[in-house]
Amino acid sequence: MDAEVHVLVFPWPRQGHINPMLQFATALVDAGVQVTFLHTEHNLRRLAQASPPHLRLLSIPDGLPDDHPRGFLDFMEAMCTTGSTAYHALLLSLVSASDAPVTCVVADGTMPFAIEIPQELGIPALSFVTHSACSYLALLSMPKLVELGETPFTADDLVSSVPGMEGFLRRRDLPRGLYCTDQGDGDPLVLKFAEVIGRTSKACALIFNTAASMERPVLAHLASGTSDVFAVGPLHARSSSAASASLWREDDGCMAWLDGHEDRSVVYVSMGSLAVITHEQFTEFLSGLAATGYAFLWVLRPGMVQLASSALLREAVGAAEGGKGRVVEWAPQRDVLRHRAVGCFLTHAGWNSTLECAVEGMPMVCWPFFVDQQTNSRFVGAVWKTGLDMKDVCERGVVERTVREVMASDEIKAAAQAMAQQLKHDVAEAGSSSSELERLVRFIRELSI
Ligand code: UDX
Repeated sequence: MDAEVHVLVFPWPRQGHINPMLQFATALVDAGVQVTFLHTEHNLRRLAQASPPHLRLLSIPDGLPDDHPRGFLDFMEAMCTTGSTAYHALLLSLVSASDAPVTCVVADGTMPFAIEIPQELGIPALSFVTHSACSYLALLSMPKLVELGETPFTADDLVSSVPGMEGFLRRRDLPRGLYCTDQGDGDPLVLKFAEVIGRTSKACALIFNTAASMERPVLAHLASGTSDVFAVGPLHARSSSAASASLWREDDGCMAWLDGHEDRSVVYVSMGSLAVITHEQFTEFLSGLAATGYAFLWVLRPGMVQLASSALLREAVGAAEGGKGRVVEWAPQRDVLRHRAVGCFLTHAGWNSTLECAVEGMPMVCWPFFVDQQTNSRFVGAVWKTGLDMKDVCERGVVERTVREVMASDEIKAAAQAMAQQLKHDVAEAGSSSSELERLVRFIRELSI
């Protein structure tokens, strides 16, 4: 273990951020770096798995009671007040510790204070971006697009002012808030995100959980800016037992259920950790899936469908005509995507899910929910061609047609498998992502002197 270098890794306390940053922390530990990983107290109490070896876990309060729903704005407010004060105090004690003081911070690019506080204390801080590079650049460009009048964002017109994406990125593929509206003067949630990541881009480097082979032109454009850019992903592909820290209990029973199905005969359906859908959308998905005739495994987190209990949803899936559905509240997703019985993933195109599919060569049907996912799904459908993008349409006939097409398409399967092969090279020794990781560890060591 390198005694001089001690990195504090601090994710935005949500599942889709904790997973990749925990994998990043593990990669640093494997490279001989001492790492402390920072959770909130609330999340630390919820964690189902033990922490990976050699990783010290610490926590700070987020200021909310355990039963608070932690909606985006309330949670951001709590983290920027109680969370940031506690983080400041903890960081002061960690940097002045007589034994192995913290020498560098890698914080989530979603929290400007987590980058700015160490910088004020004279500690180098790097920003870890859990989104794709393409959605990051699209988000950064949003204020300019509003200013130039490249609106409304619901239209099919091509966008001309996001570098490297001219010719295929439509306004419909730009980051979007919770509702598909005209947004002529910009969606407040998206503009808030754009402001946040604009601030964190002032960190001394940007770390992306992506591979150059997936997003080369965009990464090149970002690298031409001021900060150093490192593309070190997909981090979970570095080992078959990549670290994870589930905030929900995984229902392993679905693996035995998958064992009982033919190869590539099941559709896996999950909308990640944040999306909340209406009952009408649930019904459109259910009817479309049932009409395909394929068996399906559907992750329905408690509270994921507005105004519907888990028991009612299970009942609806069980009763669907022609339906052969199985519902779980949380799945061991990476194992599911690796299972021979799964033929495609109907997903919200969150970046972790997209990478997990890419690594397994799994074809995708995308129904992006919000923010970064609209841009990711355009890349899946139009650039990588590893799936199809339903975009903002949630209609049973479209669900049925799209799932059938993806399940049957040899072209999509071949593109997905070619991408998986490439990514295996990227993360293997001397591959582009593992070379970037080595360069990053050297960079962190130099900053820590
Ligand atoms: C959102 C953003 O869309 C994403 O791009 C960002 O980086 C994090 O926040 P989220 O809704 O959490 O993401 O989706 P996703 O990025 O796909 O992450 C979900 C994670 O939970 C994945 O690692 C997935 O494997 C895991 N998961 C999901 C499970 O382990 N089991 C499940 O049942 C569902």
